[in-house]
Amino acid sequence: MTSFAQRMMGNPAFSQIYEQLWRPVFTRGFSLGGSETADYDRALRAYLARPGQRRVLDVACGPGNYSDDASRGLTGDGGYVGIDFSEAMLTQAQLRNPGERVAYVRGDAHHLPFPDCSFDTVLCLAALYLIPDPLPVLDEMVRVARPGGELIVFTSVRSSVASLPGAAALAGLSGLRIFGRRELLDRLESLGCEHVEQTVAGVGQYVHARRPLAQ
Ligand SMILES: C[S@@+](CC[C@H](N)C(=O)[O-])C[C@H]1O[C@@H](n2cnc3c(N)ncnc32)[C@H](O)[C@@H]1O
Repeated sequence: MTSFAQRMMGNPAFSQIYEQLWRPVFTRGFSLGGSETADYDRALRAYLARPGQRRVLDVACGPGNYSDDASRGLTGDGGYVGIDFSEAMLTQAQLRNPGERVAYVRGDAHHLPFPDCSFDTVLCLAALYLIPDPLPVLDEMVRVARPGGELIVFTSVRSSVASLPGAAALAGLSGLRIFGRRELLDRLESLGCEHVEQTVAGVGQYVHARRPLAQ
């Protein structure tokens, strides 16, 4: 059964307001009205926009709200691919966030339609908490990252606020999952990832890791 949150992602009206209205409010909501997540998001966008020849994959890209930043600095054969399974989101992505080096693909994050070691940077932002079986998505992200490639995730995390019974009930009803503090880190480490770093901001976490050069 699809959750309420997942049904919203497939709704054409919601996909139209997602980038400009929903996501900025939601980002701030993660730091409980403070600016921590919004500040981190700005820094992440600047980091993604750095110059270089990279192949970037954005898993569950929604309306492509990172494609402009993640493709702007690309040089040489660098390119950005966004993948999502919502047709409504991808329609918005193509309309609002096209680009010379940008491509969008419809597909399921559990079965990324790319060979092993295809990307330098693999993102999954604000999406893992919607996916009923999210840890195998991390496995797929690591699989398609090249040795030494980076993985960047933004999702929920258990904190004192997120642990309150009301918060758990709300998360359960909406279908949003709240990850344990070490859940993603343990999975990435079990896959051999290195430099696994977590930054917690309110009820959100940013995780950065690298696929090892040799395994
Ligand atoms: C909240 S949006 C996030 C969009 C964007 N990454 C961002 O940071 O704002 C979550 C996206 O995940 C997509 N999604 C959920 N489950 C998915 C799956 N199994 N495979 C691919 N996309 C999925 C939804 O369609 C939706 O577009």
